[in-house]
Amino acid sequence: MKTHTLLMPLDMHLHLRDSVMLENVAPLTAYSFSGAIIMPNLVPPVTTLEDVRNYKKSIMETVPNDYFEPYMTLFYKNYDKAFLESVANEITAIKLYPAGITTNSEGGVSSFDIEEMRPTLQAMSDMEIPLCVHGETDGFVMDREAEFMTIYELLATNFPKLKIIMEHITTKEAVEMLDKHENLYATITVHHLLLTLDDVVGGMMMPHNFCKPIAKRPEDLNALLTTALEAHPKVMFGSDSAPHPRSKKESCGCAAGVFSAPIALQLLCEIFEQYDKLDNLQSFISDNAQSIYGICPEFKEVVLEKRPFIIPEDYSGVVPLYAGNEIAWAIESIE
Ligand code: DOR
Ligand code: ZN
Repeated sequence: MKTHTLLMPLDMHLHLRDSVMLENVAPLTAYSFSGAIIMPNLVPPVTTLEDVRNYKKSIMETVPNDYFEPYMTLFYKNYDKAFLESVANEITAIKLYPAGITTNSEGGVSSFDIEEMRPTLQAMSDMEIPLCVHGETDGFVMDREAEFMTIYELLATNFPKLKIIMEHITTKEAVEMLDKHENLYATITVHHLLLTLDDVVGGMMMPHNFCKPIAKRPEDLNALLTTALEAHPKVMFGSDSAPHPRSKKESCGCAAGVFSAPIALQLLCEIFEQYDKLDNLQSFISDNAQSIYGICPEFKEVVLEKRPFIIPEDYSGVVPLYAGNEIAWAIESIE
């Protein structure tokens, strides 16, 4: 039987929520990943040192062993330098949301006035705190990410030493940006390596494939695949796994978010094998992130096996990507 081993898988963009949802989903990621960057868009968002500490503690209480590191983030506000100095040792990055652009982002940034943001961004740059960005404008839904490229350029050129991570990129425009500015990096989800808009609304509407940013055109999918499969050194895996209860997805006013955490590694093996690029998966799933963020995760060895695996219909009431479908790889063992 064909197997493939991954060392210290990292999910560089993950939503764990809080309370019961956290208890249900955190162990699924902790099982197969060494660590994950934890998104701060709770209600209310994570904005204080106390929030960071409490959230990290609740995450650790839900995971069965010590072999999982939650890399904590703050929700971007125009924080002052003294505050940033007080939290710098306890966070790995700060996540910026344009106000109202996605789930629980109402308190985000409403104007990209660089001078207003300068003190915070310059302090982050000096303290080497990376900035993770949800890069969408409030324009037409298919154009939102491409329109945001001018804002990425503004940020990248004004703060050339600040590491800026374009989160969950979905367009060829974003892929092209990677080589234009030294300080721009990106995460890519597994669902954006599989889906186009057709899989969301091309036939019957598929709420479990609906997320922000929405899946785009075949040419965008191809650009993302090319850069992920070659494990471009500025690109990392970030699932953007975003659990919502079934009732919030299969409803009028469907919440945005694809839940992929428990099946991400299996699907990535399938994709990378299909293009004969399995050798590059280690860089995409961990090594690039280790170099970009300068992190050194706990040892974990995940062996995947090529055998049919049927994705469960749900995990504690949360429907995963491709629920009920057979995929080609399964997790065989974890040490
Ligand atoms: O689809 C999404 N869901 N995109 C995001 O940016 C946020 C996420 C969530 O928190 O549900
Ligand atoms: Zn997200």
